[in-house]
Amino acid sequence: MITSHPIISAITFLLILFPPCGNAVPADNAVFDTKGRPLRAKSRYYILPVAQGQGGGLTMSPKNRTTFCPLHVAQEDQEIYPGLPVWFLPKDSSQRVVTLSSDLNILFNTVNICLQSAGWQLIVDHTMRRKYVTTGGAIGNPGEETISSWFSIEKAGRGVNIDDYHYMIVYCPNVCQFCMVMCGHVGVFVQEDGSRLLGLTDRPLHVMFKKARSRSKSS
Ligand SMILES: *[C@@H]1O[C@H](CO)[C@@H](O)[C@H](O)[C@H]1NC(C)=O
Repeated sequence: MITSHPIISAITFLLILFPPCGNAVPADNAVFDTKGRPLRAKSRYYILPVAQGQGGGLTMSPKNRTTFCPLHVAQEDQEIYPGLPVWFLPKDSSQRVVTLSSDLNILFNTVNICLQSAGWQLIVDHTMRRKYVTTGGAIGNPGEETISSWFSIEKAGRGVNIDDYHYMIVYCPNVCQFCMVMCGHVGVFVQEDGSRLLGLTDRPLHVMFKKARSRSKSS
């Protein structure tokens, strides 16, 4: 046995006493929630802004008074509202925790009254010359046809403690070998009417993920 060597035994002993990451961390590229727990695929999380006093959590909202569908991904205008919980569904459906920079579908855990999916996708608004994030996205089937529905999570900054759990949502899918992709960060466009719609901008919204309480009755 290797561990019979005194130095190795001592190192093993120290690693048991002082594990390098504090608690059992499944992967060093895991994404963490506001409690420092790894983000789990298929659990429900609110996506909340890091900055205070600039809107609340992410939700679904009509684009404006005349265009109801598809519902856009938007930020609640008031900080007290957490928005709607989402699920993160990794491209690799056997993956149980969400990791940095990996392709994901993001899906609101609610019914979409536009009778479309509640999954996120990117759509191009030619008049505004913007790319907005809306619902109605595809779920699964990674490839060219679903390329607009894959997002990923990156770390924001590199704080030591609490900042470790601050992230950015990114559009930079890696689901199709020969597709041309313009990568970008998801941020907020404040519309003329004051609503806060999400789209690709060079000013990323810094977010954190707060686990939603599981519902009492449903499984
Ligand atoms: C609402 O958005 C649609 C689609 O971009 C646009 O054509 C329309 O002019 C907008 N309406 C208002 C009231 O801004």
